[in-house]
Amino acid sequence: NNSKGDSRGALIVLEGLDRCGKTSQCSRLLPSLEGLGHSVESWRFPDRNTGVGQMISAYLSNQSQLDDRAIHLLFSANRWEKRSLMEAKLKSGTTLIVDRYSYSGVAFSSAKGLDLQWCKAPEVGLLAPDLVVYLDISPEKAAERGGYGGERYEQLEFQRKVAQSYHTLSDASWKIVDATLPIEDIETQLKEMAVDCINTCKNGKSLSHIWS
Ligand code: TMP
Repeated sequence: NNSKGDSRGALIVLEGLDRCGKTSQCSRLLPSLEGLGHSVESWRFPDRNTGVGQMISAYLSNQSQLDDRAIHLLFSANRWEKRSLMEAKLKSGTTLIVDRYSYSGVAFSSAKGLDLQWCKAPEVGLLAPDLVVYLDISPEKAAERGGYGGERYEQLEFQRKVAQSYHTLSDASWKIVDATLPIEDIETQLKEMAVDCINTCKNGKSLSHIWS
């Protein structure tokens, strides 16, 4: 695969509670991987630029009300509408650093009390990440970080439930990083993990599907 020059990019996902520092780390990881000569793009879910994304954004800012299952399916649809582009990018050799993915979808909705298997079902068939990094912070510490922005889920009690859901969802393949370390230390760890992952994908690891 490598020798034919058609090696693929890696799908790298960052997950964690609100205010865990994912977004800052994604924006640091992008230039640092580019600096090593990799083709990289930074993505995020929800992608608020699509029609579905605008509905999600209105819901999160409390401008609209939606049934818990309806909003769950919109978050999922927002990933499905990007799936083919995601696959094309990866196959063309571009690595994607993705700020939240299906795990957020399931963790946040199941924290509302929705059944875990029901929450996972619409995600089945999306591309599986090659690396999931969980930026680990206690809900209390996260809440102390400059306060929440006021979106719907940014409340301590709810984030405690989300943390439990993430815990239930996580498996041995997840890399857990202490999100309370200095920014530069987290950055160094992430870069190392990402480079390893990119090399594994280059060396022929095939793309697979999530939860199937
Ligand atoms: P953001 O702050 O990373 O843009 O995410 C917005 C909120 O949406 C955040 O509280 C997590 C939540 N969320 C879900 O509930 N389901 C999902 O599928 C995703 C991607 C995010």
